[in-house]
Amino acid sequence: MIEVHEITIKDLDALAAIEARVFRHPWTRNQIAECLYHESVSVNLAVKEDGEIAGYLFALDTGKEAQILNIAVDVPYQHKGFGQELMKAFFKTIEKDSHISLEVRKSNLPAIKLYSDYGFETVGEREQYYPDGEDALVMTKDM
Ligand SMILES: CC(C)(COP(=O)(O)OP(=O)(O)OC[C@H]1O[C@@H](n2cnc3c(N)ncnc32)[C@H](O)[C@@H]1OP(=O)(O)O)[C@@H](O)C(=O)NCCC(=O)NCCS
Repeated sequence: MIEVHEITIKDLDALAAIEARVFRHPWTRNQIAECLYHESVSVNLAVKEDGEIAGYLFALDTGKEAQILNIAVDVPYQHKGFGQELMKAFFKTIEKDSHISLEVRKSNLPAIKLYSDYGFETVGEREQYYPDGEDALVMTKDM
């Protein structure tokens, strides 16, 4: 069974383990925990299959402005629709007429494809945005 729920502190160890598996420059456990402490302006979602966390999405939502900070699907679960489940669940939490933005590595074609499929358009670039010097694309969507 696939379900999406709000992340709680109990999920922290599992999230940190996935983050370390999935990213070259992973968020630390403390960075992940910080998202959980700002719950009034955060959307922190996990998608589970049969009770196991398959992926997660962290976003900021201050009303009409939202920003996706991080989305990841654990390696064995990738390209099976869990990223799409997270995007759909995230959109349900967002007010009508909101503006959503995000940054993504220029080379991250799977993520760029996912965002494009859900209506995000590239509106700019940030040079050398990432610690290894890679540029970011800025993508936005109006709900
Ligand atoms: C990017 C990511 C979140 C997508 O989640 P996912 O569950 O793998 O994606 P889904 O199965 O929901 O597929 C959504 C779309 O993404 C694209 N996609 C996903 N994996 C892909 C891959 N390996 N190669 C090419 N396209 C891929 C496809 O377009 C897919 O649509 P399709 O199945 O109709 O072709 C996931 O691959 C991931 O965690 N990657 C590593 C972390 C990361 O880069 N996060 C984004 C940071 S900005």
